[in-house]
Amino acid sequence: MTAHWISKRAFVAGGIVAAAGLRGVGNVARAESGPVSALPDKGGTAPWDYWQSNEGSGVLRVASAAILSANPYNTQPWLFRLNANRLEIIANKTRNLANLDPYRREFYMGLGCALENTCVAAPSQGLAAKVSLLPNGPDADTAAVVEFEPTVAAPHRHHNAISLRHTHRGPYQLDRQVESDVVDALSAQATNPDVKLLLIDARGSEGKNFSGLVMESSQRILSVPGLRDGRHIGITINAPSGTDTNDQALEKADAAWVEMTRTVACGTAAAFGLIMVRGPRTDHRLHMEAGRLWQRTHLEATLRGLAMQPMNHHIEVIDYETSTESKSSVAARLNLGTNWTGWEPIFGFRAGYAGGTAPASGRRPLSAVVIA
Ligand SMILES: Cc1cc2nc3c(=O)[nH]c(=O)nc-3n(C[C@H](O)[C@H](O)[C@H](O)COP(=O)(O)O)c2cc1C
Repeated sequence: MTAHWISKRAFVAGGIVAAAGLRGVGNVARAESGPVSALPDKGGTAPWDYWQSNEGSGVLRVASAAILSANPYNTQPWLFRLNANRLEIIANKTRNLANLDPYRREFYMGLGCALENTCVAAPSQGLAAKVSLLPNGPDADTAAVVEFEPTVAAPHRHHNAISLRHTHRGPYQLDRQVESDVVDALSAQATNPDVKLLLIDARGSEGKNFSGLVMESSQRILSVPGLRDGRHIGITINAPSGTDTNDQALEKADAAWVEMTRTVACGTAAAFGLIMVRGPRTDHRLHMEAGRLWQRTHLEATLRGLAMQPMNHHIEVIDYETSTESKSSVAARLNLGTNWTGWEPIFGFRAGYAGGTAPASGRRPLSAVVIA
């Protein structure tokens, strides 16, 4: 794949700086060979090819990994500010799911996922990452600052999984469970004492309870206008041009979603999982830590040939119930037991072994998301 570059001049002329109301261009990105204030400008699947073919270097290459992370509805709610030894992840607050994400839990989890890919990619460039979360407070636009120190270049264990990780929404094999050593390896990805991974056998009574709540919540999302509108924002925000997004097309997509949730997502999962946080479900710092854990878990699963798909229907309904009624019937019916008193379920997913690989989802190019 050939590199596609635009010059700094073209980048500025492209309007991002003016649109964002930011000051003039400083050091954009610097490759080993000198200043490279140029950014790949092809979107779609080109950012995956760019990373895969080892293009770019230094902080620019690290940023090219950050944009390949998981994120809610592929909203890609990020902007980046780069220079030779620093990468800032900026919350692009317009790219949110409105009432479907009242606490911006999914929004900040997506930024946490991008942060994790940043930290995984950095060592290959001889960069050791030091992370500060929300350094200007929870309401400021800066979600994370990563300062880089020189180190011996060596790829991270998850480096090669960055380009192979894709959300897999297809059927998983019915006759294969997730082995206990794999469960242990996934659970071990949780390194923050306030953020844990909980795995549930999909075929047992707890798994059936999980499926039931997911199915009930899918219907609820479609029947509450604010939730349904948020879902439709997610579907349309990055729809390829030419995609039908009129009411009839969205209604059809909703019906297919309910059916796929029942027959494929719930029907073929080997395991379900939850990310739990100790603390308020409104805390953006916990959201970002949970996003890092999801990205890390999915990268580890990818290395082990295990497919995964986030499933947040019931988690979105828990946010809705909590924000409108100060309590959640769905959360209570998860029946997690007293060991989890004081913990909040903030992310759901399924896992299993799939026949084929999942397709790569498109990304906006770096040139559209790097600001000065
Ligand atoms: C916080 C969060 C919530 C998500 N929720 C769902 C979900 O409920 N269902 C689903 O199919 N995918 C969900 N996803 C996956 C995203 O849609 C996916 O990461 C995005 O489209 C990019 O695709 P990729 O993961 O294949 O790179 C979620 C991802 C994140 C980070």
